[in-house]
Amino acid sequence: MQKLIINGGQRLRGEIELQGAKNSALPILSASLLCDGESILYNCPCLSDIYSAIRILNSLGCRCSFSDNKAVIKSGNLEKFEISEELMCEMRSSIIFLGAILGKSKESIVSYPGGCELGSRPIDMHLDAFRKMGVDIKEEYGKIICKARDGIHGAKITLDFPSVGATENIMLASVLAKGETVINNSAREPEICDLAEYLRKCGAKIKGDGESRIIIKGVKKLYGCEHDIMPDRIAGATYLSAAASTGGEIILKKSCINAMESFLSVLEDAGCSISVAGDVIYLRSGARLKAVKSIRTMPYPGFPTDAQAIIMATLLKANGTSIFEENIFDCRYKHIDALLKMGADIKVRGKTAVVQGVKRLYGASVEATDLRGGAAMVIAGLSAEGKSTITGLRHIDRGYENIENVFRNLGADIKRTE
Ligand code: EPZ
Repeated sequence: MQKLIINGGQRLRGEIELQGAKNSALPILSASLLCDGESILYNCPCLSDIYSAIRILNSLGCRCSFSDNKAVIKSGNLEKFEISEELMCEMRSSIIFLGAILGKSKESIVSYPGGCELGSRPIDMHLDAFRKMGVDIKEEYGKIICKARDGIHGAKITLDFPSVGATENIMLASVLAKGETVINNSAREPEICDLAEYLRKCGAKIKGDGESRIIIKGVKKLYGCEHDIMPDRIAGATYLSAAASTGGEIILKKSCINAMESFLSVLEDAGCSISVAGDVIYLRSGARLKAVKSIRTMPYPGFPTDAQAIIMATLLKANGTSIFEENIFDCRYKHIDALLKMGADIKVRGKTAVVQGVKRLYGASVEATDLRGGAAMVIAGLSAEGKSTITGLRHIDRGYENIENVFRNLGADIKRTE
């Protein structure tokens, strides 16, 4: 089993280029099957989830190749509309293919993407929306059997919650539908805008992305295009946090400053000095960080839930008390046990976690159980005294390209062993 070995305590210093965004690349890879012809995606991160998405595309009859952060997808008529259970379970976000397959083939059979890592991952909003668009849906033996007998038509859909995945899935199902689709209370994440940008380049008629109402007018055909995947704001938050928590300084190139605003302001509240120029962020962290009294995760442009574990790890030794409120997922504190093992002082009551800054953390052996929780353990290990061993790397590798190389280039004593 692979593990990361970290000898903590080094101040991280240096400059890195930010990888492309996993949560933009995945829906755009799904969208590429809607097209006729070839799409080329640049700045596509080299991650296990990306390979899972490519395996799904190839299983449907697309022809994909991926090297040097460039994905080439040739798509036309799909050879099939079913995704095997094995492929569906490789990643939670495989459900994002359902909307695209329905948009292209008007029918699909998939299985539930599974949950438990962050709590249940229901897809009721996705399915309710598809029903409104003329799709009959039967659920039996863990399979979701979808068929739009009379084709998919546009609909007015109001989401109970601005779900990222539901917004993306409705966009994918509606770009080739008959008529107009309106998504009220749509998610506003930057990755939604990147998906809309790609689809517009392919010939889709979409407006309002980035706001709370998106309007899509169905078109007859979409054609492949070339697209640069946006930078990964959560990976960026991870690397900035590691520098901040070790009293270091970092230059982060190829960033997406606007998309990271809510996170950057928390690091400034914690005492970091941050300056930006173009797509470069410069962070310097002086002495001991200051606690941040309230961090509440909210839909974009609020503080991102994906950065909750990351900023928590960063503030474990801050001076004072930081209070977290996780409002998006019902089980996103699983990383806390590992942080407690490293000497943190954290008390959880319901969706609130109270972090009392401690003077020092101690290296320990811990196991990642989800992607961002694993990143939090790496950050804590980098600022702890002594040796930490982190397993469960398959979670971390889903979202971070060569995480140990990035940190080693910043001066960390970290290596991956079998
Ligand atoms: C996306 O997940 C991201 N994944 C997540 O990033 C991110 O944490 C999340 O959005 C919130 O920003 C990808 O983009 C691949 P949601 P998604 O639908 O689409 C509930 C990471 O670390 N809900 O916005 O699954 C749901 O249970 C990952 O990169 C329903 O109840 O998130 C959750 O509580 C983790 N019914 C809330 O809404 C539904 O039909 C937000 O989920 C759909 C969602």
